[in-house]
Amino acid sequence: MADLSTEYLGLKLKNPLVPSASPLSKQVESALALEDAGASALIMHSLFEEKITYENEHFERFFNQQSIGHGEADSFHPIPDDYKSYQDEYLEHLAKLKSELDIPVIASLNGTSLGGWIEYGTALQEAGADALELNIYYLAADAQEDSQQVEARYIEILQSLRANVSIPITMKLSSQFSALIPFTQQLQQHGANGIVIFNRFYQPDIDLETLKIEPKLELSTSQESLLRIRWTAILFDQLDCSLAVTGGMHNHEDILKALLAGADVTHMCSALLQHGPSHIEATLQQVEQWLEQHEYDSIQQLKGSISRQHAIDPSAYERANYISVLDSYSHPKGVLR
Ligand SMILES: Cc1cc2nc3c(=O)[nH]c(=O)nc-3n(C[C@H](O)[C@H](O)[C@H](O)COP(=O)(O)O)c2cc1C
Repeated sequence: MADLSTEYLGLKLKNPLVPSASPLSKQVESALALEDAGASALIMHSLFEEKITYENEHFERFFNQQSIGHGEADSFHPIPDDYKSYQDEYLEHLAKLKSELDIPVIASLNGTSLGGWIEYGTALQEAGADALELNIYYLAADAQEDSQQVEARYIEILQSLRANVSIPITMKLSSQFSALIPFTQQLQQHGANGIVIFNRFYQPDIDLETLKIEPKLELSTSQESLLRIRWTAILFDQLDCSLAVTGGMHNHEDILKALLAGADVTHMCSALLQHGPSHIEATLQQVEQWLEQHEYDSIQQLKGSISRQHAIDPSAYERANYISVLDSYSHPKGVLR
């Protein structure tokens, strides 16, 4: 039997399939089902900066009103003794997951600015998180902020978190950076133990009847894996930290390609939401079968063997690919004269 074990963020994992942040971590039952199906670690749904800030502001307003003479409101709407804040609930859930699961649990912090919310990193560490995933889902849509400032924002948030926690931190990034290699190298220098590529930016849609801008969530397809696989192959030779792929990991083929390109682990979300936790077991069996059929003893043996540096034709990951792809197109008969 091929050895599926891998290492991610210094954690020894029994295989490279890790469910990514999703609603599946919100219930202990579904988290247990993921573990039973073979997940090697679990990334929790995120603790969001906006929700923390909203709740803090809400309470501040409430207490302010009391101090400026509406104290009687306290007797009408007292805060129940057993009231749990959004953050308390998250921490409690993390502690529960830690006590019920044997696999490592990675907590997820999600926000875009430097602020008090970062301090929750310490609380997550104390609640038992094995590592932290930091998702700075930031859309650079401010004309006053140039690309260096955008990158500095990421580094500042990372530094602040790094100063507060000793557990591994992994950075979940979008693909929209102009020079990903130096940027990820800087993240590594500032204490990131891993890079997760890539966040999906969910695109809002315009409803042509109401002319309203509607939020829209569509699950991914395998097609999205190709962008990630290319960048994994490029980053693998340039970084010393862990690499994870998220986005478009639907089946054993997507996973094997990501590993060949250099990923330490692959994160799965859409496929698990579509097919349920049992998809993990079936996929891992197919990974193992493929390894045996192709005479690999272990994941370790194949990891990074088709990275840009190790590929027979490294230019296939670069601009040359663009030109050959365009040249390879032949249009269907009868479409053009
Ligand atoms: C319903 C849903 C909820 C998600 N929640 C989170 C979240 O809380 N934090 C986060 O970083 N990513 C979240 N994601 C993104 C996933 O973790 C993952 O990165 C993304 O879906 C790409 O992987 P996939 O192609 O396997 O779906 C969510 C995705 C979906 C579909």
